[in-house]
Amino acid sequence: MSNKQYIFMAFFSASIVMACNSNVSKSNDGNVQINKVPTNATSEMTVLMREMHDNFEVIRDSIVAGKTVDRILFNNVRRTHWASPTDSTILGPAFEGKAVDFLDKVDSLLLEKVNKEMYFNFTVQACLNCHQEFCPGPIEKVKKLLIQPKH
Ligand code: HEC
Repeated sequence: MSNKQYIFMAFFSASIVMACNSNVSKSNDGNVQINKVPTNATSEMTVLMREMHDNFEVIRDSIVAGKTVDRILFNNVRRTHWASPTDSTILGPAFEGKAVDFLDKVDSLLLEKVNKEMYFNFTVQACLNCHQEFCPGPIEKVKKLLIQPKH
């Protein structure tokens, strides 16, 4: 392998780590690295995840306020199964198991009439379970979605 190829590989692996690394601002710092990679600058899964995160903030606020949750906010969650990630080597039965568990929790939340706050937190916990294994970077950000018990 030539030196040039090595440098390219180094950038490529750095950018993969970036997307899921802790304490890195993905949208700003991350892109500086990621732009050096010709493909996957922003993966389909990254775009999906950002959207899910923002939607879950709205879902949480509606639940806490006792308002009806707009189901449109859940429209894309099932794409967790097939959106292509920055690092496709993570895909496999273990990843799929986490995705299925997350979507089961979403279904329970959608059916739940009384304990919505608890079922919302179960769902966010399922986000976190996948992140613990496959993408630890955004964990602190995702934790902020959890509904804190009232004092
Ligand atoms: C089955 C696994 C899985 C589940 C479930 C999951 N994520 Fe992710 N998430 C990932 C992976 C993998 C990435 C990295 C995507 C990439 O680099 O292509 C990611 C990336 C992210 C990011 C970072 C996006 C960026 O700007 O770089 C956020 C925020 C995020 N997820 C939030 C969530 C939230 C909120 C939920 C639940 C509502 C959730 N995730 C559920 C696997 C998961």
